[in-house]
Amino acid sequence: MPRLPKYFYNPVSLIGTAIALVSFGTTVIFFFMDMMGYTQSPYLGILTYMIIPGVMLFGLFLIPVGAWLDRRRRRKYGDVPRRYMIIDLNDSTHRTAVMIFTVGTVLLVVLSAAGMYQTYNYSESVEFCGEVCHVVMEPEYVAYQHSPHARVSCAKCHIGSGADWFVKSKLSGAYQVYSVLFDKYSRPIETPIANLRPARETCEQCHWPNVFTGVKELSKTYYPIDTTESEPWTIVMNLKIGGGQSELGPTTGIHWHMNTANIVRYVSTDHKRQEIPWIESTDISGKTRIFRTIESDFDDSELDNFEIRKMDCIDCHNRPSHIYYPPFRTINDAMALNSIDSTLPNIRALASAAMTKEYSSKSEAHRLIPSFIRREFNTHAPEVLRTRQEDLDRSIREIQSIYSRNFFPEMKVSWRDYPNNVGHMYDMGCFRCHDNKHVADDGTVLTDDCNVCHTIVMQGPTRDLKQNIRGMEFVHPSDIDEAWREVPCAHCHLGI
Ligand code: HEC
Ligand code: HEC
Ligand code: HEC
Ligand code: HEC
Ligand code: HEC
Ligand code: HEC
Repeated sequence: MPRLPKYFYNPVSLIGTAIALVSFGTTVIFFFMDMMGYTQSPYLGILTYMIIPGVMLFGLFLIPVGAWLDRRRRRKYGDVPRRYMIIDLNDSTHRTAVMIFTVGTVLLVVLSAAGMYQTYNYSESVEFCGEVCHVVMEPEYVAYQHSPHARVSCAKCHIGSGADWFVKSKLSGAYQVYSVLFDKYSRPIETPIANLRPARETCEQCHWPNVFTGVKELSKTYYPIDTTESEPWTIVMNLKIGGGQSELGPTTGIHWHMNTANIVRYVSTDHKRQEIPWIESTDISGKTRIFRTIESDFDDSELDNFEIRKMDCIDCHNRPSHIYYPPFRTINDAMALNSIDSTLPNIRALASAAMTKEYSSKSEAHRLIPSFIRREFNTHAPEVLRTRQEDLDRSIREIQSIYSRNFFPEMKVSWRDYPNNVGHMYDMGCFRCHDNKHVADDGTVLTDDCNVCHTIVMQGPTRDLKQNIRGMEFVHPSDIDEAWREVPCAHCHLGI
């Protein structure tokens, strides 16, 4: 004897029921596997929280559709009188149907609320953002894991809290999934990100302006090209990172730009925001000054054609988490840690050359880097291959590992594609504005005086450091006369 109204016993509804039950069972099993950490695969998450629930909903949807089709068919052949269904709770088949429906719906609503919450959590997770499209996101994800923010989730910076950005991010996320599926994304991914959330709303969740006080020590040891001829050189400087506390009145320091009381707005004429001909600065007293560069013929009448951007954290910290370092920086640091042996002849230049050759993929680079370096030693210093095998192997392993953290040939990503705006050594950075060439109407110049942003407290050959806590004039480690005063550092220092 049937226990439900007879139109539910049709092939479509039965198939729908089977699909729903099987996928429900699968989700439950996968859910527990995920909870118990049975597997770390990001695809399990996609299956459990996105694909299978979709299949289940489709199955559930088929049940009423089948019933409706069946009822229509029966009506056509006169099997059913043309009237609405009467629900009679004294009839046991009707009672069962109503019970199944009510309990089923309540269960479904509760479970899908839980499921939707899981789906939401999952779509915000580092795993989903960083690992699922692993070729596309590999550069960002790998660099992120080696950055100071490796424990901050992608969503904390890219979405933040609040409903409007949540919706915006899901919409643009849907577009990104589409562009990955249909191979429509650019390599490398374009920056600056056009609709990145204003940094103050994301970064300031953790770094609020009041913490910007005092100085931060920066200490660097530089290895010369030929370590057998000259010595490493060390510079220790105090970066003046204060400037955030407007309640103490006018303050000075690098975070002056971020002082809630001061506003800096600017125009850039290129997409990467590297050419800045026009800057407007409004200080705590409300006094406004406009700086124009003497180097370009940018005219105020062109202002309407460009976006006037209000400076925020990203205008300096555009690489807080996806930092692709130039070879000289990483090789230097590895030599300081002795993971690349600085006593191997000419190793700095060789490592740099090996990393910057054109490779079609990471695996090709891994294969060719060791053979290139060994071949060079074979030609120029064959005794190294015989007597220093171990040091050489260790250094080559480190060079490969630096390569894999900073170069992503599949996505055409390296430090060249993403200028870093903090500093001025390899990219123009601060010198985009502080170049001694931006002048205001009252004659004020945006200075490039070395002591405005930092004071050098120690410098010299590492074994014979000069020290002066009050600061000292910069000495360029190699003799280039006074060129460092005239030419921006980044024009000579390309990072290789
Ligand atoms: C500390 C904050 C922060 C975190 C955490 C973070 N990002 Fe970013 N991300 C940024 C900023 C800032 C930019 C650069 C914006 C610009 O230049 O317009 C960026 C840029 C990007 C870009 C554009 C390409 C590029 O290299 O600049 C991608 C893609 C990206 N992030 C993905 C991710 C993924 C995936 C994660 C998590 C694994 C993540 N981000 C974590 C702040 C962050
Ligand atoms: C969820 C919290 C969180 C958010 C959001 C966040 N940060 Fe951080 N940030 C940290 C923590 C924690 C550290 C300290 C890491 C350490 O000391 O190693 C840090 C360190 C830093 C540093 C110092 C890095 C260094 O080399 O020492 C900078 C610069 C920075 N953050 C900038 C940013 C910017 C810019 C944003 C917004 C795009 C941002 N942060 C968003 C938590 C956060
Ligand atoms: C978009 C242009 C721009 C960029 C980029 C920029 N600045 Fe500035 N900076 C200004 C302006 C404008 C002032 C205010 C000058 C004035 O009104 O006297 C200023 C002032 C300063 C001051 C002095 C604040 C005080 O009065 O004590 C410091 C220090 C400073 N900047 C450091 C930096 C550093 C470090 C960087 C790079 C990380 C940087 N700036 C990048 C535009 C810029
Ligand atoms: C004018 C450029 C500029 C702007 C704008 C700026 N910073 Fe910085 N910030 C710097 C420089 C330069 C340093 C020191 C070098 C470094 O740590 O990378 C620094 C250091 C930091 C540090 C590390 C401080 C420490 O004690 O180690 C944090 C955190 C930070 N900034 C966060 C922010 C946040 C958040 C914003 C936006 C509200 C912001 N900065 C805006 C230039 C800037
Ligand atoms: C507008 C601010 C500003 C001015 C002006 C400035 N610097 Fe810097 N400088 C910085 C910042 C910020 C950093 C740190 C970047 C970082 O955190 O890696 C830096 C880093 C450096 C470094 C270390 C470079 C590295 O990455 O290895 C040297 C050396 C240096 N500055 C020398 C100078 C000299 C010489 C002058 C004068 C011609 C000068 N700076 C003027 C802001 C400035
Ligand atoms: C005219 C070109 C030129 C300019 C401009 C220049 N440098 Fe250099 N710099 C050199 C050369 C050449 C070397 C030696 C290269 C070597 O031995 O690796 C060098 C070496 C250095 C080193 C030693 C580490 C290294 O990478 O070899 C530091 C630090 C340095 N310069 C800082 C600066 C700073 C800071 C500025 C800007 C204020 C600057 N330089 C401007 C050409 C220049």
